Amino acid sequence: MSHSGKELLKIKGLVKKFGGFRALNGIGMDVGEGCIVGLAGPNGSGKTTLINVISGVYRPDGGSIEFCGRSVYKLPSHKIVRRGINRTFQVPRPLSSLTVRETVKLAAVYGTCEGNKEETIRQALEIVELEGVKDVVSAGLTFAQQKMLGLATALATKPKLLLIDEIAAGLSHQELFKISQMLLRIRNTGITMIVVEHHLGFIDALTSDVVVMNAGGNLFRGSIQEAAQNDEVVEVFLGR
Ligand SMILES: Nc1ncnc2c1ncn2[C@@H]1O[C@H](COP(=O)(O)OP(=O)(O)OP(=O)(O)O)[C@@H](O)[C@H]1O
Ligand SMILES: [Mg+2]
Repeated sequence: MSHSGKELLKIKGLVKKFGGFRALNGIGMDVGEGCIVGLAGPNGSGKTTLINVISGVYRPDGGSIEFCGRSVYKLPSHKIVRRGINRTFQVPRPLSSLTVRETVKLAAVYGTCEGNKEETIRQALEIVELEGVKDVVSAGLTFAQQKMLGLATALATKPKLLLIDEIAAGLSHQELFKISQMLLRIRNTGITMIVVEHHLGFIDALTSDVVVMNAGGNLFRGSIQEAAQNDEVVEVFLGR
């Protein structure tokens, strides 16, 4: 599904240790510009850790990360955001006392030097459909709206690559459908995505390119249909 055929992100042999434990143990992956790559794997396989390392929240202990042909390995997160990578969090963390608009504005002001801030904020709120609650204090949002605010905040920094961690968890079928349509619209604006998800049906609606991790390493890359035929994938998911 590569649109231009150019690799935007190249990760090789990535290691992240917590004490003596290797949460990432050699994972590698390439992501083509304009693509959506699904990232699946059992609980504790290292998906969130990978997002945290790519986005600079955690410092890696080995390997390499190249973005747009330049290393972002061990850069602090504010520099990574300005290079054009941002992410959402598995558990939404709204700044409760700020309104939706103020929250998104903060990201637009600190996260990017590019473009007209007012227009960036307006577009971010529009694409996640939060314009109607833009003056509501974040603490007053529903769970689904808090997830949308996390997405708008990331979008307001004008990322080229968006890392999405379990946005579907805890949402209804109807909300899932809406979000998958929204993510496809975001991709169509030219933003590349890695979408971490347990819900394989959700990944399937977005892309036929899925990476399956296990124990901090690579287990499989291909479509959901191929994954379902792969004995190793079936074993880690079903414990057989
Ligand atoms: N800050 C941390 N300190 C110590 N261990 C950690 C830390 N963060 C993650 N781990 C460990 O690293 C491993 C990978 O965790 P991670 O959260 O990346 O998994 P995951 O694939 O995102 O799981 P889930 O599907 O449950 O979200 C787990 O064993 C976890 O306990
Ligand atoms: Mg996780």
